[in-house]
Amino acid sequence: MSETFDFIIHGGTVITPGGPVETDIGVRAGKIAAFGKLNPSAAAHAYDASHLTVLPGCIDEQVHFREPGPTHKEDLETGTRGAILGGIVALFEMPNTDPATTTQAAIEDKIDRATGRAWTDFAFYVGASPENAEELGTLERLPGCCGVKMFMGSSTGTLLVADDENVARVLRSGSRRVTVHSEDDMRLTERAELVAGGADVSMHPEWRDVETAVRSTQRLLALARKHHRRVHVLHVTTAEEMDILAANKDIATVEVLPQHLTLAAPECYERLGTLAQMNPPIRDGRHRDALWAALNAGVVDCIGSDHAPHTLEEKARPYPRSPSGLTGVQTTVPLMLNHIAQGRLTLQRFVDLMSAGPARIFGIANKGRIALGYDADFTVVELAAKRTITNKWIASRTGWTAFDGMDVTGWPMATIIRGHVVMRDDEVQDKPLGIPVRFQETL
Ligand code: DOR
Repeated sequence: MSETFDFIIHGGTVITPGGPVETDIGVRAGKIAAFGKLNPSAAAHAYDASHLTVLPGCIDEQVHFREPGPTHKEDLETGTRGAILGGIVALFEMPNTDPATTTQAAIEDKIDRATGRAWTDFAFYVGASPENAEELGTLERLPGCCGVKMFMGSSTGTLLVADDENVARVLRSGSRRVTVHSEDDMRLTERAELVAGGADVSMHPEWRDVETAVRSTQRLLALARKHHRRVHVLHVTTAEEMDILAANKDIATVEVLPQHLTLAAPECYERLGTLAQMNPPIRDGRHRDALWAALNAGVVDCIGSDHAPHTLEEKARPYPRSPSGLTGVQTTVPLMLNHIAQGRLTLQRFVDLMSAGPARIFGIANKGRIALGYDADFTVVELAAKRTITNKWIASRTGWTAFDGMDVTGWPMATIIRGHVVMRDDEVQDKPLGIPVRFQETL
């Protein structure tokens, strides 16, 4: 009798660690169990991926979902629904909720809330603060926790670790990689008067200028080296930081965002106003080009969305009272596939940035590549599909994307999580089956 499987995906071009291979994949108990020519009728469920490309499931290591707290913007159900519509199989959610995620009880509360409601697999960051610095080494190892997030500059919410002494306390506590929002809060405060009385939103990158980012990243790297701690620098926006980071790859990994790779000042502020307002800001073309150069030179380790929803009403407040952040969890994959179609990066590099990269940075167990024994997570894409990104397609409770009306080439056709097809042809199906992501024990 031939082998039986729970699920078979067949007929597609599969992007394996060795490159593209025409193969079927057999799945048993949520794990990849076989490659080769398989009989789809030997499985309870099958997906025909003929003419499609099967990628390892894309992982978004930076989203803000607002639950508990201002759930009128987003919650764990709506946020993860947007994620699967956009081809994301697992995501890490940020601690600047209300209350902030700074305790064991807060992490456990988020896991409870996500269970039965999350469409993707998930993990939660614990937020660093001067109050919990010494406990972080314990908190970062809780099941369902992906590690520590430290805000060195004030952004949405109250979490902040601004001065060197407290940054050092955080870096000394624990051993996993510390994820950092790197803007120098002292300089932000000094320069706040530039915009305090009201200003055009195009002043946002003047207030939160290059020096604000560079100074913070230099301080962070010096302290990380001194205290022998690895760091992950989020949403890097400047040419200058990329040069510095390239010289510190032994301790630092780097994330960039599709927003910073796709949009540039001043055009984005003229066209989108406060919809383009985020921290750290979207800067001019010199920086955007430098981010691409760093990406293609291998300095960048992963791409996240920094999905940071605020309602259109909130965004309509006069700057600087308008909140910072763009939605993004649903648009990352289409935007980056479009960049592939336009020749800015290869499909192999996309997989490295969206799957293998997050797995390597965070020590994720059994995700991030298509290999025997790994979770059967697949982002199935049609590289030549022509679509238009629209607000109507966006599942976020806020209902908008800065990329509304943009034509793209390349689209996620199905999202498959541990052998379950949860999105197919822009429709959500099955049920929210998300579970906590697991991490390598020794990290
Ligand atoms: O623009 C941003 N929005 N940057 C952040 O660091 C936080 C985020 C949010 O949560 O709104």
